[in-house]
Amino acid sequence: MISKRSAPLAFRSTAYPEVEYEWHMVDHIPQPKASEPRGPLHAAAFRPSKLAHVVLRTARFGETRRWYLTVLDAEVAFENQDVAFLRYDDEHHRIGIINAPDASPLGRDSAGVEHVSFTFDKLEELLATYLRLKQQGIVPYWPIIHGPTVSLYYRDPNGVKVELQYDVFRTREEVDAFFAAGNYLENFMGVIFDPDEMIRRFESGEPLESLTKRPPLPPGLGPWDMHRP
Ligand SMILES: [Fe+2]
Repeated sequence: MISKRSAPLAFRSTAYPEVEYEWHMVDHIPQPKASEPRGPLHAAAFRPSKLAHVVLRTARFGETRRWYLTVLDAEVAFENQDVAFLRYDDEHHRIGIINAPDASPLGRDSAGVEHVSFTFDKLEELLATYLRLKQQGIVPYWPIIHGPTVSLYYRDPNGVKVELQYDVFRTREEVDAFFAAGNYLENFMGVIFDPDEMIRRFESGEPLESLTKRPPLPPGLGPWDMHRP
């Protein structure tokens, strides 16, 4: 059984000495004594139980830390002058940031991770986040209705692309039906939309189904015309 210690450990980081943080330790599950044989372990296929976190290396440590704290409405789980671990749910950290002053900038054509995506439960949460970030000068470079999602793509201070999204479909069957209907054969990219216009339509009471339904491609345009790199 996992039990949380009642008294959290308080500490101050060297990077932010004015702030007192709490670090909650979780006791480990009691293990059988080493002397008790477990029998042979065979190779077997197990899927991970979840995707846990993303860790970034950056020469813009403070700026990157602030950006993710703001965009994800996160909090610091632990940090010092070398690392910052940020969390926003029951995972101990979702974003790790490594202070790497000599890290070279991310090139626009660099191979590797294309983007990282975060899902909001409700469309109104995504739209409210859009408004909150816009007030702070953080605006998406690419708002697109992919079909399965309504998505806002941002760039972090390093150029890393971060997608904030709302899942349109609630079940696997709905997703399968969307693909089976040939929507992605016709347009695998999606259709660019105006978040401010969607907010007006949301406020006017338009049903979620029509708000989030992907419109047809504008006449004469193809999927790649809807792309913003
Ligand atoms: Fe995505």
